[in-house]
Amino acid sequence: MNSDRRDFLQKAGLLVAGASLLDIARSSTALAQEPGKDDEPKDKQPSQKEIDAAAKGEWIAVLGKVKDLNEKEPVLVKAVFLDSLGNEQGDEKIFVRWVKINEDTGRWIIKGATCTHLKCTIEFTPGADRFVCPCHGSEYDLEGEVLKRPSRKPLKDYSEHSFEDGGMLKLRRNS
Ligand code: FES
Repeated sequence: MNSDRRDFLQKAGLLVAGASLLDIARSSTALAQEPGKDDEPKDKQPSQKEIDAAAKGEWIAVLGKVKDLNEKEPVLVKAVFLDSLGNEQGDEKIFVRWVKINEDTGRWIIKGATCTHLKCTIEFTPGADRFVCPCHGSEYDLEGEVLKRPSRKPLKDYSEHSFEDGGMLKLRRNS
């Protein structure tokens, strides 16, 4: 195969993978709200981030619209991870929180909502600024560190794996 033909086929493969990721963006579900369904134009081309993720074999979940998740308090979201072919690869409940640094910038704090004791779903307690597990009473602070046992391990941290894309907050996970 000559190099022009090989280059063409490689690019075409990435575009197909990227297009499947666009389907991902349309099918994930948030508990707080239904993200993305009508927000992205139907003929939207996959973004470079989506194409890169597909090329690395990563799974992507859409967490919701940035403007809806941009709250002071954590928002509970169900992240549905899809592979580059649009197949579901599992889901997980997570808490999303926007921490404002100054007028223009901030950062996303994304923590697993699964208690590290025996896997119950934790709840956020407004006012107390902590997560509480309804099963055996473990408590975690807003950074996911254990405040009260029986849990001994902090909540899973996904903050580094999130990215904004076309007004949506998304999360990538290795396959
Ligand atoms: S499952 Fe959360 S404290 Fe036991």
